[in-house]
Amino acid sequence: MSPFHLTRILPEDAMAAALRADVRGGLTADPKTLPPKWFYDAHGSELFERITALPEYYPTRAEREILADRSGEIAAALPARTLVELGSGSSEKTRYLIDALTSLRTYVPVDVSDSALRQAGQALVAERPGLDVHALIADFTSDLTLPDTPGPRLLAFLGGTVGNLLPAERAEFLARVRALLSPGDALLLGTDLVKDENVLVRAYDDAAGVTARFNKNVLAVVNRELGADFEPEAFEHVALWDPAEEWIEMRLRSRTAQTVKVPALDLAVDFAAGEELRTEVSAKFREERVAAELAAAGLDLAHWWTDRQTRFALSLSTVR
Ligand code: SAH
Ligand code: TRP
Repeated sequence: MSPFHLTRILPEDAMAAALRADVRGGLTADPKTLPPKWFYDAHGSELFERITALPEYYPTRAEREILADRSGEIAAALPARTLVELGSGSSEKTRYLIDALTSLRTYVPVDVSDSALRQAGQALVAERPGLDVHALIADFTSDLTLPDTPGPRLLAFLGGTVGNLLPAERAEFLARVRALLSPGDALLLGTDLVKDENVLVRAYDDAAGVTARFNKNVLAVVNRELGADFEPEAFEHVALWDPAEEWIEMRLRSRTAQTVKVPALDLAVDFAAGEELRTEVSAKFREERVAAELAAAGLDLAHWWTDRQTRFALSLSTVR
C-alpha cells in the first residue's frame, strides 16, 4: 500500500454547490463579497506560492524563521505521533516540524486545493520514507472528521490563515478545532502581528503585481466554473488597512459601470463605477487577543514565540 493517501471529504458536487451559493449570496449582497477559499484553484495555489517569495510578503519568512529556531521546543512540548495541518498548501515550512517530531508517524495535510495536496504529499513521501501521509481534500470551515491515527496529535494552522476568517467565523472555527482535540493534544497557530501600516499594505499590494493577479484569480474561477464574463482588467486590486478592525482588506474595484453575467446562476450583477467587491480580510493580532480568543474556545495558551523582529507569532495551546 502506498504511504500517500488522498481522501476527498468534500465531494466535487458539494463543492460546486457551495461555490454557487457563495457567489449568489456574495454578489447580491451590499456591499458585495466573495469568500477567500475560492482563490485556490491550481493557478491560484501557484500564485500564492509566488506571493510567499515576494520581498514585500514577510509573513512566510518570519514564520519560517520561528519554525527553524523553535521546532525542537515545539516537539519537546508536544511529542506528537500525528501532525494534522489545516490549509497546508505546499507544506514547505512544515518540514521543520516533521523533522523535529521524532515520534511522528502520520501527517494529515488538509486543504481545499487538490493540486497543492497532491504535489506536497507526493514530494513528502519521497523525501521522508516511513512517514504516512494521509491528505484530506476538505473545507476547514465546515465539518471536519480526522482519520483515526495515534495520539498525541498536534494540529497546526500556519500562514496566518486564521486571520482570513471574520471574527464570528473564527470563534466558531476555534471551538470546532477544540472539539477535534483530546486532552494531551495541542494547537500550533500562526498569527501575523499588528505593525506599521505601510509594511502591511505593501505585503498585500506588491510592486510586481502578483497579489493583484492572485486577487483577480477569483474572478477567473467564477468565469470558468459558472460561465461568468468577468473581465479581470475591468477591476483594480485594492489593499487597505482598517485600524478599527486591525485587518487588511482586499477588494476589487470596478473601473467603470458594468454588468457581469453569471449564466449558471441566471444572474446579472451591476457594478457602479468605483464600486468595490470585498474578497478577503487578513486580521493582524496582538498576544492578548490571541490568548482571549483561544480561551473563549477552551484552549490555554502555553507558549508564544515570535521572529526576531516581532512581525509574526506562533502559539502553542493545550486543551483545558
Ligand atoms: N499553510 C501554507 C498556505 C497558506 S495559504 C503557508 O503557510 O504558506 C492558505 C491555504 O489554505 C491554501 O492552501 C488554501 O487552499 C487553503 N484554504 C483556504 N481556505 C480553506 C478552507 N476553507 N478549507 C481548507 N483549505 C483552505
Ligand atoms: N493567509 C494569507 C494572508 O492573509 C493569504 C494571503 C496572502 C492573501 N496574500 C493574499 C489572500 C492576497 C488574498 C490576497 O497573508
